Amino acid sequence: MNAQPDSTSLRCSPLQLAWLQELGIEKPWLPAGASGLQPPSRRASDAQHPAALEAQVHAQPPEPGTTRQPTPSPAPAPMLRVSRPPVADAGPPVTAELPTRAIAAAATDMNALGAAIRACAGCGLCKSRHQVVVGEGVDSPAIMVIGEAPGEQEDRQGLPFVGRSGLLLDNMLATIGASRGSNVYVANAIKCRPPGNRNPRPEESAACHPFLMRQIALVNPRTILVLGRVAAQAVLSTDSSLQSLRGRPLSFDAAGRQIPVVVSYHPAYLLRRPTEKAAAWEDLQRARAIAAIGD
Ligand code: URA
Repeated sequence: MNAQPDSTSLRCSPLQLAWLQELGIEKPWLPAGASGLQPPSRRASDAQHPAALEAQVHAQPPEPGTTRQPTPSPAPAPMLRVSRPPVADAGPPVTAELPTRAIAAAATDMNALGAAIRACAGCGLCKSRHQVVVGEGVDSPAIMVIGEAPGEQEDRQGLPFVGRSGLLLDNMLATIGASRGSNVYVANAIKCRPPGNRNPRPEESAACHPFLMRQIALVNPRTILVLGRVAAQAVLSTDSSLQSLRGRPLSFDAAGRQIPVVVSYHPAYLLRRPTEKAAAWEDLQRARAIAAIGD
């Protein structure tokens, strides 16, 4: 009897093979049906957002000089912990994130990352997009603004926030002495327009997530201003509601550097609900103070 498994009987998907190669295993030999190459079982909630490899939410101490701070509740757990289990025990997790993760990790500057994002076919949105929207603004900005996804105008022009929401955003930023031309970088959590401006699907968010994580690290902002629930959940790798995140001291862990995060309303929501502009104004003032604009 031949005890050596036959490599032709392997049941590895291309994603699993990519993982094995990342782990330095070029020629996997586990036989078909061996548990070592099956994806680990997951909780249903885990499947929502397979993208919490790098980012973590951390409650920060209250900012000095403020008298009324909401008590930071415990940091929301990342929705999926993708640790690398020993190959022989559980096998690599299989997620839509993996191909873009390797591509994003290989980009050493924003030019390389931008080119990689523009060439991306990591999810179905690449079929309907006109242009990929990477981002716009200065390096190492005082504020990096992160919205949800390109809309129709953005998809046509290849630039973020150029429609009505963008006009409102630029006007709001101007009130705190901030602009894309001087001290702001603007980007979206999702780089391609979802058809009809629908919410991005979990697999689309997952595919784009490594690009966003890498982009934040390379843009290297002093502060992050996140607009709307979809962007907040992507940046902070959480499923917490916008309301529970707004007003909280949060931070993004960029390879050990804690970048303060301010969560606010999306300009499109403010256009529909102008009464919330006062609350958004407070958020903006917090972002300005943390970014030390005008100090
Ligand atoms: N809404 C967004 O979230 N981003 C844009 O770029 C435009 C509208």
